[in-house]
Amino acid sequence: MGTRSIVIVVLAFVVLFMLGCEKSERNGDTKMNITKEAYGKTADGKAVDLYTLTNANGLVAKVTNFGAIVTELWVPDRNGNLGNVVQGYDTLAEYIGCTAYFGAIVGRIGNRTANGKFTLDGVEYTLAKNERGVNHLHGGNVGFNKVVWDAAEVRTADAVAVKLTYLSKDGEEGYPGNLTCNVTLSLTNDDALKIEYQVTTDKPTVHNVTHHGYFNLAGEGSGDILSHEIMIDAASITPVDKDLIPTGELMPVAGTPFDFNKSTAIGARINEENEQLKFGLGYDHNYALNNYDGGLRKVCVLYDPKSGRVMETHTTEPGLQFYSGNFLDGTIKGKGGKAYEHRYALCLETDHFPDSANHPQFPSIVLRPGETYKSTTAYKFLAK
Ligand code: GLA
Repeated sequence: MGTRSIVIVVLAFVVLFMLGCEKSERNGDTKMNITKEAYGKTADGKAVDLYTLTNANGLVAKVTNFGAIVTELWVPDRNGNLGNVVQGYDTLAEYIGCTAYFGAIVGRIGNRTANGKFTLDGVEYTLAKNERGVNHLHGGNVGFNKVVWDAAEVRTADAVAVKLTYLSKDGEEGYPGNLTCNVTLSLTNDDALKIEYQVTTDKPTVHNVTHHGYFNLAGEGSGDILSHEIMIDAASITPVDKDLIPTGELMPVAGTPFDFNKSTAIGARINEENEQLKFGLGYDHNYALNNYDGGLRKVCVLYDPKSGRVMETHTTEPGLQFYSGNFLDGTIKGKGGKAYEHRYALCLETDHFPDSANHPQFPSIVLRPGETYKSTTAYKFLAK
């Protein structure tokens, strides 16, 4: 072979190599994507969008800036088939009328605050009493789940995300201080729905934001979650009274139907004779998670034996509200008109403990000017 032929062969290899690289780079990138479409308007004329996030593996999360709601989350089963594992609605109008907090960010304070009252620095504050006119629930009459957030698309090497921002004004729903809440909802390339919170205030205040997704790993609307198995890394719960307000104590779970340290089917003990199960109509309790030090750790593993889907919950938070969908009774018709019957989904709300504003012994939910509250939760999906 002459020199010329050698040069041609070498060049041909170089070109082929470069084409190969470009192709694999393109393949790597093709699936990662963010698209935005109009989702409708609120009654006061605010435009709302729906973002579709696709990660490198083809998982899909849909997020709207109304209520910071995750409307769909498509993850693979053990055969690689994608299924939507969160309950929700098809239209914005239905989310506007939603009373069950489907997929939303709830705040300023998730869960119940007793009698809608708390005292901070010697001043008593009264919050909206939107639960039977008695307690404050999930942020009040117009909580974070019912407002339009500012949104920005975020692309990084390992995730696609929407960064949502909401300014909750001083006095809103009775809370003191202008509170700026940033929530970044990411779909990461290691198959997690990651939720990062950053909150600041200009006056001393309280807050306890969380994500209120309704999960069913077999696919939303496909049956109850009683055969899902769950592990929760917690030695105790914060027991409640008949109105679901924490008594302020910690109750060890050992020897009770609340012990999920060993993975157990949700339905295995849900109907046992137990005062706490009676008050909650099933599981509707905050778990005081082990190893709380502000770092991210795995606190819960949910497994659906039918589909093989697994959801790990990782969080920096001290608490996990495990709600087994006890108030669902088929009256709510969700996606495709499907009736969401009793316990068709469950919530795993990572946050500080309920009614913390009234229990100084619980980890504090007070935020002061100059401080930035930061918190991360990741729901990571696998299949086995
Ligand atoms: C939370 C509460 C439940 C219920 C649901 C919403 O999980 O703990 O009691 O209010 O939200 O229906």
